[in-house]
This record gives sequence, structure tokens and C-alpha cells, in this order.
Amino acid sequence: MSVDKTPAWQALAKHAETQKKEHLAELFRQDPNRFENYSYQTDTFLLDLSKQRITSETLELLGDLAEQQQLGKWIDKLVNGATVNHSEQRAALHTALRQPLDKPLLVDGQDVVFDVHSSLLKMELLVAQIHNAQWRGYSGKPITDVVNIGVGGSNLGPLMACEALSGDTHAREISVHFVSSMDGSELSTLLGGLDAASTLFIIASKSFSTIDTLANAKTAREWLVTASKKPVELINQHHFIAVTASPEKAMKWGVPDRNQLLFWDWVGGRYSLWSTIGLPIALKIGMAGFQAMLKGAHDMDVHFRESPFKENLPVLLALMGVWNINFLNIHAHAVLPYDGRLATLPGYLEQLEMESNGKNVNHAGERVAYNTCPILWGEIGSNAQHAFYQLLHQGTEPVMSDFIASSQRYQKQGDELKEQHKLSLVNCLAQSRLLALGDAVQDDDENTPYFKRYFGNQPSTTILFDELTPEVFGGLIALYEHKVYVQSVIWEINPFDQWGVELGKQMATSLLPGFEGTVDETVDASTKGLLKYILRKQGIRDEN
Ligand code: F6P
Repeated sequence: MSVDKTPAWQALAKHAETQKKEHLAELFRQDPNRFENYSYQTDTFLLDLSKQRITSETLELLGDLAEQQQLGKWIDKLVNGATVNHSEQRAALHTALRQPLDKPLLVDGQDVVFDVHSSLLKMELLVAQIHNAQWRGYSGKPITDVVNIGVGGSNLGPLMACEALSGDTHAREISVHFVSSMDGSELSTLLGGLDAASTLFIIASKSFSTIDTLANAKTAREWLVTASKKPVELINQHHFIAVTASPEKAMKWGVPDRNQLLFWDWVGGRYSLWSTIGLPIALKIGMAGFQAMLKGAHDMDVHFRESPFKENLPVLLALMGVWNINFLNIHAHAVLPYDGRLATLPGYLEQLEMESNGKNVNHAGERVAYNTCPILWGEIGSNAQHAFYQLLHQGTEPVMSDFIASSQRYQKQGDELKEQHKLSLVNCLAQSRLLALGDAVQDDDENTPYFKRYFGNQPSTTILFDELTPEVFGGLIALYEHKVYVQSVIWEINPFDQWGVELGKQMATSLLPGFEGTVDETVDASTKGLLKYILRKQGIRDEN
């Protein structure tokens, strides 16, 4: 039976009929202890759900839904390496990537945790070589700049971590750069300012067949060969590291075995920053920082596995989403970090959430009749106040938001920065308050025209932590990973495949001959028209 026909879902639908009419301002009036009643704490995080449009009954019913969907069993399956990715017949073992060595995990007789640690050891070795100036470029210069070439999961996680974190590495500082765009614009801008002799490229690609990445890697190699006038083999040896689950393809491209860092097909691309894909993170913050990030994520894994649903942060976060999406009809989700270091968190979560749960087919292979992943976007909260908060406050779309902030930033720094932190925090609190409660003006107040009114009732969650250390960061990202998994269990969908990105890639390849002047007459009129227009502009004669 489809989940939306089940008793637990129906009970929630019925409850929502009355709950939809309640305004958050009224819920706060009825229960002055809403914060105490609906906020949850671990040693690291505070999750405040009191500005969600819920009551204790809502939580009870959502808990029933989780039980009915056998969430506990699904969590066990995930962390024990069962085949949770059915369409690709494999496990999704990102939790094993941060599991300590003394907690082995046998999958098909093989201890994957041992494999993970072996792979990280090689990474540690390379990091040490680069930091200690033992790794040298073609002319003997130590490496000063590292460029990560990758896209999607092979870019977004490391990029976000490198922007968010600083380490206590006493090693030589390396500048870490990221390049992803297929058109080469990021790469060409970057290359202009780099010294080829001291630049190392990481080709980060699980499949080692993503054309965006391979196109950038090819350009980078051409740049190096031209600048160095050295044979390509020498350039491959001194200037390229491949991080991949497809070592044969990396080898074929020319990256020698010694320069390869491996991970496995059971690591989903968007769950891979914990693997050797995290090499740029280790280069930026040091191996100790990287390990601390893994520890934070592992602590969240333990919390996820062991805590009752009623106190389980990822479960609660996920159930809030399900309540808003499926029962309050809210289909937009804003992620609003009040912390400039988390500027790329929304972009990272766009992939994590939308590539994972942007699905319309359930485990039984049927189209679902209910909503799944909403549109998710975001921005540094204070910047977004000057951009799209107008819509949050006065638009016609209901939107749910996540406010994310640290409570103890800049403790070791000057007063000006502490003041700025305070300013940022009061804005964070004020905005979520106003979104929830509205302006408290009486509806019959003739002195306040509607265009000045704030009607509120926009739900939000606030996530607080002390300071954004690598450990806290690891926990925060694992929190969202598990939230996504819980929602997939409720919606009965596979969060670990991404078939929706395949056909577009094939179509693009099939259009390439068009640039030789052969526009396929069977393509639709719009595509044909656009292609012919481009050909004309490029002075290429259309043969048809
Ligand atoms: O096309 C989508 C995708 O496969 C993502 O899932 C993945 O993170 C990204 O492309 C990059 O893939 P790869 O690491 O194999 O280059």
C-alpha cells in the first residue's frame, strides 16, 4: 500500500485539517513553554522546533509514521551495508567512511572500515609530502597551489569545507582552489595567476568519465605541457593526483598508480567528502582537522543510530520537512546560515537534498501520488535579508526555513568582530521571530495598510552550535545527510541513485555533431532553431 493511503499518513492528514488553521502566534500564546517543549539538545547542537507549526500531537503522529515505515530497520540496513540503493544494487556506506578502525564492518566478508583507513593513510602520506615540500613540480619547485577539478559531489563538499574551516596545521600553507564549470571560465581565470611549476591538480571524479571534469583536466594538462615544455608523462607524474573509484580510467588518462587515491562505488558522489575526495580539505586544514571532521560526523552517526526518535535530531529535522511538505503544502525550503563561512552550505544541500530525494518513483517502481523533495535554496541569512526575504515576509508562497548560527564565535578575537557576531545573531533571531509571529497588528487596524503588514506563520527551525570547528562541521553535515535518508524512508524512494541526470548528458553528446554542420533534422524545432542560430553566429555552414 502506498504510504499516503496508510493509517499513520491518514491520521496526520486529518490532524493537519485543524492544524492548518492555527497561526504560530496563537500557538505561542497557548503555550508559553514552547521553546522548552520543542527544542532538543545534544552535547553539540541545539535544534529549536518551537517555530514549526506543530503541537505534541503532531509529533506523536509523525513518530507513528516513522514507526509504521520501519525507520529503525532502515537505519540498521544503511549503517550495516545492506543494499539500500536498489536500482544500482549496492550499499551506501558513507557512515563507514568515518567509522573508527576498532569498529570493523564486514560487507561480503570484507572489512570496509579497514579499506577506508588504508586509503586515508595513503592520503595522509600525500598530504604530508605536499605540506613538507617533498612533492615537487617538474622543475623541482615545491607545490604552492592545488587546484581541485571536479563537479557535483566531487566539488561541493570539499569546497564548502575549505571555505568553512580553518585548521591548526603548522605545515607550510598551500592555496587550495576549486574549478568545476564545464565552459572553462573558472579555470582560465585561475590559470592566469598561477605558476605552472608549483601547481598541482587533483582530478576528482568518482566515475572518471564526467566530461566537465575531463575537459578541465585536459586544458590544465595542455597548459602545463606548454608552460614546461616537458613530456606529458613527466607532467602527469608531478602535477596530477586522481581521486576516483575508477582507477583503470585514471590510469588510462595517464595518472600513475602512485598518484591515485581511491574510494568505492558504494560511496555516493554527494556523500563523498569524507573519503579521499576530501583531499583538498586535508590540505587546507591538516590531517588532524580532517580526522576531527570525521569524528564529528561519526558522533552524529552514533546519535542517529542509538537515540529514540523523539530525541533524534536527524529524525526530528526530517519529520518537520515531511509535515510541512506533505501536510501543510509547503514546497519551498530556504537554508539561511547566519555565518559567512557557510556561504556554500545552501549549494551543497541543493545537491544533497534535491539529487537524493528529487524522485517520483517509489521502491515498488510506481509513480508516487504525494510530494517528495521541495525546492531548496539559500544564502547567507543577512545577505538574503537584502535580497529575497521580501518574498518570505510578504510573498504568496509558504516557505519553511532553516536558520543556522554559532553562539560563541570570535571568542579569541577583537571586540569589533564580537560586535559583528552579536549583530548577526540578533538579526537571525529577529527574522525567524517575525516570520513566525508576524507583526502583531490587529487586522482591523486602519492605520496600517496591507502593504506594510507581515502576516507571519512561516515555519522555521533554528540550529545552534558553539563554534564551527571541524568536528561541529562534520556533525552538521551528517545531520543533514541522515535527515535526507529519513525522508527517503518515509517517502519510500531511493535517495542514492540519480537517473534523472543521465539522459541530458546523452542528449548533449548526440548534439555535438551539430557543430560540424550536421544538425539532426529529427530534433525539435526549438533546439534546431537555436543550434542553427549558433552555427550562423560562428560562421559554420549548416549542411542540411
Ligand atoms: O551527473 C551527476 C553526478 O553523477 C553527481 O551525482 C556526481 O556528484 C557528479 O556527477 C560528479 O560525478 P563524478 O565524481 O563521477 O565525476
